[in-house]
Amino acid sequence: MRIGKNQERESSSSFKSVSTCLRLEVRERGRASGLWCKRDVEGGRKLRAQRDKKSAVARLGRKTTAAPRSMWLYFLSVCAGVAAALYVLWSWLIPAVVQYNPWLALLWHDAIVQQVLNILTRSTRPQRILKAVQNNATRGDAESVIAAIDNFCRKKEWAMNVGDDKGPILDSVVSEVSPSFALELGTYCGYSTIRIARLLPPGSRLLTLEFNPDYAAIAHQIIAWAGLQDKVELLEGPSRDLIPQMKERFGIKSFDFVFLDHWKEFYLPDTKLLEECGLLRKGTVLLADNVICPGTPKYLEYVRNSPCYESCYFKSHLEYTKVEDGLEKSVFLG
Ligand SMILES: C[S@@+](CC[C@H](N)C(=O)[O-])C[C@H]1O[C@@H](n2cnc3c(N)ncnc32)[C@H](O)[C@@H]1O
Repeated sequence: MRIGKNQERESSSSFKSVSTCLRLEVRERGRASGLWCKRDVEGGRKLRAQRDKKSAVARLGRKTTAAPRSMWLYFLSVCAGVAAALYVLWSWLIPAVVQYNPWLALLWHDAIVQQVLNILTRSTRPQRILKAVQNNATRGDAESVIAAIDNFCRKKEWAMNVGDDKGPILDSVVSEVSPSFALELGTYCGYSTIRIARLLPPGSRLLTLEFNPDYAAIAHQIIAWAGLQDKVELLEGPSRDLIPQMKERFGIKSFDFVFLDHWKEFYLPDTKLLEECGLLRKGTVLLADNVICPGTPKYLEYVRNSPCYESCYFKSHLEYTKVEDGLEKSVFLG
């Protein structure tokens, strides 16, 4: 029994020590696993933090490259919108609005558009008209030169030619008079010069005066392109200097037909100068352009009220617009 008790004591103490050991071991393992867990958790947190950091950097990177791309797209679409609006304004809306108002039409076409295009194309309007003729008209064909200029001025760029509305009136007066000696004051690019010269009977002469040497140089080329250089004499200089030289220097007795289309303030003084120089004969026909727009009130008052003239008005439109303008035909009665 003792033995049994001892054995029992021994076994119970050994059991205790074994269980203590086991508990210790479990605790140790637990602590160890706890530590591992803790380490795992910490490691996980670190990893997660690293991963978060990486993804944040990636996201940031994506943002920093995506943001400028969308900004550029926004910027480009704004630019395209502005360019489209400007194009519609420039080529359609403003021309459509100003074509009914004389001052707005001239301000827009003659001042603004001309200056802008001169700067952008580094060329002058007459140079652009010459190019249109060279590209679109047939050499030696006056009709195709007139058509090329009208087409250019209607579709691309307005210019101060007599134009295709008043042109047929000019044609009918020239055909009716059938002049042997004709005078034009104001050549510009030679558009009306060609209109007149193509209708002259054989052996006739047309003298045209232009004081701007750049315009005169272009007019020479356009008149030659139309094949009319033999019928036309282009004189460079101001009308008030050239008119008094007509008889002696150019052998003119008198003119049968005079087309007035230079600066409007010279219409009246040059008409009086033609009278004084004896260059008008009984029956000479004067045809004056732009008597309404920009207008020549003093000239109109003179030819309409002088007993020396029989005058009538042909209503039409300012070249390439819907603004009222017209031609005044005045027959010199001597
Ligand atoms: C309206 S443009 C002539 C347009 C041209 N007759 C046509 O229909 O094709 C007027 C021209 O007259 C010229 N001019 C103006 N005053 C002048 C003057 N006193 N003497 C000579 N030329 C003049 C200008 O330089 C300009 O080229």
